[in-house]
Amino acid sequence: MATVFFVIFIYLFPAAKSQSNITKGSTLFTNSSPNFWPSPSGHFAFGFYPSGNGFKVGTWLTGRPRNTVVWTAQRNEPAVLPGASLVFTSDGRLVVQNFTGVQLIAGTYQRAQVAAMHDSGNFLLYGSDMEVVWATFQFPTNTLLVTQELGPDKILYSSKSDDDDSAGNFKLWMQGDGNLVAYPSKSLQMAKYFYWASHSTNRAPDVSLTFAADSRLYLANSTGFTVRNLTEGRLPVNKTTLYRATFDVDGVLRLYQHQMGTNGSLNSNVLWSAINGEDRCSVKGACGLNSYCANKDADNIACLCPPGFDFVDPNQPDKGCKLNFSNSDCFLKGANDNYMISTLENTVWERDEYEVLTPVSEEACSKACLEDCYCVVAMFRDQTCFKPKLPLRYGLKNSSIPTKSFVKVRLTSTKNVITKKIGKELLITGVVLIAFSLVIFASSGYLIYTHQIWSLKVMTSQDRPPDVLGDINLTSFSYHQLAVATDDFMEEIGKGASGRVYKGSLPENGGKEIAVKRLEKLVDDGEREFQNEMKIIGRTHHKNLVRLIGFCCEGSHRILVYELMKNGSLGNLIFKDKKQPSWKERTKITLEVAKGLHYLHEECETKIIHCDIKPHNVLMDESMSAKISDFGLSKLLKPDQTRTYTIPRGTRGYEAPEWHRNNTPVTTKADVYSFGILLLEIVSCRKNLDLSAPDDEIILMDWVQRCYEAGELKKVVGEAEVNLEELEKMVKIGFWCVQTETDLRPTMKQVILMMDGTIVTPPPPPPPNSSANN
Ligand SMILES: *[C@@H]1O[C@H](CO)[C@@H](O)[C@H](O)[C@H]1NC(C)=O
Ligand SMILES: *[C@@H]1O[C@H](CO)[C@@H](O)[C@H](O)[C@H]1NC(C)=O
Ligand SMILES: *[C@@H]1O[C@H](CO)[C@@H](O)[C@H](O)[C@H]1NC(C)=O
Ligand SMILES: *[C@@H]1O[C@H](CO)[C@@H](O)[C@H](O)[C@H]1NC(C)=O
Ligand SMILES: *[C@@H]1O[C@H](CO)[C@@H](O)[C@H](O)[C@H]1NC(C)=O
Ligand SMILES: *[C@@H]1O[C@H](CO)[C@@H](O)[C@H](O)[C@H]1NC(C)=O
Ligand SMILES: *[C@@H]1O[C@H](CO)[C@@H](O)[C@H](O)[C@H]1NC(C)=O
Ligand SMILES: *[C@@H]1O[C@H](CO)[C@@H](O)[C@H](O)[C@H]1NC(C)=O
Repeated sequence: MATVFFVIFIYLFPAAKSQSNITKGSTLFTNSSPNFWPSPSGHFAFGFYPSGNGFKVGTWLTGRPRNTVVWTAQRNEPAVLPGASLVFTSDGRLVVQNFTGVQLIAGTYQRAQVAAMHDSGNFLLYGSDMEVVWATFQFPTNTLLVTQELGPDKILYSSKSDDDDSAGNFKLWMQGDGNLVAYPSKSLQMAKYFYWASHSTNRAPDVSLTFAADSRLYLANSTGFTVRNLTEGRLPVNKTTLYRATFDVDGVLRLYQHQMGTNGSLNSNVLWSAINGEDRCSVKGACGLNSYCANKDADNIACLCPPGFDFVDPNQPDKGCKLNFSNSDCFLKGANDNYMISTLENTVWERDEYEVLTPVSEEACSKACLEDCYCVVAMFRDQTCFKPKLPLRYGLKNSSIPTKSFVKVRLTSTKNVITKKIGKELLITGVVLIAFSLVIFASSGYLIYTHQIWSLKVMTSQDRPPDVLGDINLTSFSYHQLAVATDDFMEEIGKGASGRVYKGSLPENGGKEIAVKRLEKLVDDGEREFQNEMKIIGRTHHKNLVRLIGFCCEGSHRILVYELMKNGSLGNLIFKDKKQPSWKERTKITLEVAKGLHYLHEECETKIIHCDIKPHNVLMDESMSAKISDFGLSKLLKPDQTRTYTIPRGTRGYEAPEWHRNNTPVTTKADVYSFGILLLEIVSCRKNLDLSAPDDEIILMDWVQRCYEAGELKKVVGEAEVNLEELEKMVKIGFWCVQTETDLRPTMKQVILMMDGTIVTPPPPPPPNSSANN
């Protein structure tokens, strides 16, 4: 009877009864019994828990044989020594006191009146109207409990170890762009360092990681709309089943279920894991510097040292490895005999090399490392040899990795040949050399240090972290992912000034077909510049622009991933196909190109000058709509790559004359010029320059000009059925666009208005003199 009443009471007054009030003046001592305040259910407690040689203040889930800490106050401060006390002071603050000082845990301008340990695991301070003035749920450390949220720009840090709750090696960031992303904690928030992401970017701002009572972990926007489910939920909710999501010591987010036994036992199991056991080596930093990670069995990984390296601490393999020999004699003549190369199959480290050799054979790569005193490891793949800098990071061995690594090791029987040969002079030279390299080393260390400080400042001076995966719909692909997607760049579907294009499909995206463009001949801009350009391109959205899906910026690789345009280029359509498009189609395509360009020039956030408008940079999608490609690349490519000098000098190509004039700035009007040429080509379905045509028709512009003046424009379109009035209008627009004087050329907006007849197309000025080009 009593239990029934109790249950009913809980249902009727859940808020009042699911917490026990702690009044001002209450004090806990490390050695008092109990040294914690329990929740009414007894499942959670807030107080002192043992840590190292002392105690920390926190919240835990009680259970035998072991409590599970879910929150820690001041986690990075040293543990407090026995004898300290935790006081809810008479002025409403929560402090830890020892003999000499006071450490504040919670205290706001609003004075708390009462504190409570809630059954949810939340420890709260209430004001005089029972309003919450402080709660542990507002400051998650490494764990979320049911109803707790990780808000926008909030971070969970993994703990250092099972016995030390200080912030450890990994961080899980609820990014402002709506993505939940895991990084090593000591890395910058850059795409190349992340190792797990929720991939939920859809321009949703203010997204929080949320935990529902039925164990569903999901990302929700500020109105509660589910952006993405991480786990399914729908698990039983009862008084003896508790859920917890912890960003564990090993950098993996896991969902746990706990069954509370009647006698205080705690039965836990993992319901979900962001990264599965066999993929745990993908956690960047799972193993320490100079080591590499390999799967031991289905659930366990092992950190191993490459040959020639030893564990820094043999009892803690994940702390990394150190070189077990000194190679300072390497610079002496004949020293190569002291070294050999040992091979590690399917092993790779982070791509951060001081030298790349390509194309080379495997043997040449191995030899290059042996003969290079700075080289300790060389990685070989695709006829390319990378010599990474030390220390090596993020090492990984997996049979699916095609990279082979060569490790230089010192022969143990050094025979002392070198030492014997060393005369006094050599010894002195050696000492001088070593001293000199120490100076260099120290100063470069200083440079690196100041540089890092600088980059951190840059990062923190922005009020928001740089959104790596973008506040845009762009995916950052790894080179490996794209190699898989394209079957190792098997099927080439195009080649342009900026690089080769390959066909591929994204298995993780339901086999969505993509076009992958490997950029060549880039200007030597850094990654940051490249990512900035990608963001600009990624923000452009128009139905007449080919959409960029993502990019890869890894080492020297710069790759763009676009949606695949099934019907090839406009060039193929109007110049090659047997069946030429009808007049209606030609005007439609021209208008679509004009609209795409207009958007680039005037409607997107950052004005984009295309610089290379030509039929091969206009692609046709499934429904035969024209879409402009390769926009935004001109800044990335070396200047002479953006334009194609295939047209003999003195004739008119797609490039506006101002490209050849040194002191004239290139503006959007240069694109208008190229568009004019393109328009004439589309209308007539022939190339600007056709050497197979009769002599007086070779140059399209001049021929059309003559036909126009002679009133014989029909000749230009051959047999095609056209609307003559429209044809004349189009040709006139084309002539306006190719004026030598940039100011005379219309804007793309005016072009569109002339095309659809909103404004009248005036007769064009007399043809420019072709010598004006030079
Ligand atoms: C806790 O304190 C509040 C306000 O002081 C009161 O309304 C509530 O009944 C108290 N709860 C218990 C269990 O004493
Ligand atoms: C007492 O606490 C203060 C403040 O947290 C700390 O600086 C000091 O080292 C502590 N002293 C002892 C003996 O623990
Ligand atoms: C949350 O998402 C829903 C559905 O997309 C949308 O209607 C709502 O406006 C969003 N809320 C906010 C604050 O963005
Ligand atoms: C997420 O899961 C809930 C409950 O299982 C379901 O109702 C909802 O439709 C799911 N939402 C998405 C976006 O998958
Ligand atoms: C609570 O749910 C768990 C999980 O299904 C179940 O094993 C347990 O028996 C339930 N306990 C009660 C008291 O219903
Ligand atoms: C009590 O707890 C122990 C573990 O501490 C467990 O082995 C045992 O089965 C439990 N007994 C009951 C009745 O739940
Ligand atoms: C260095 O490592 C190599 C290969 O792992 C081993 O054969 C050698 O004995 C080690 N040398 C020293 C000095 O530990
Ligand atoms: C290689 O990696 C894949 C994917 O990460 C994983 O499923 C597989 O178990 C790994 N294989 C080995 C031998 O480590």
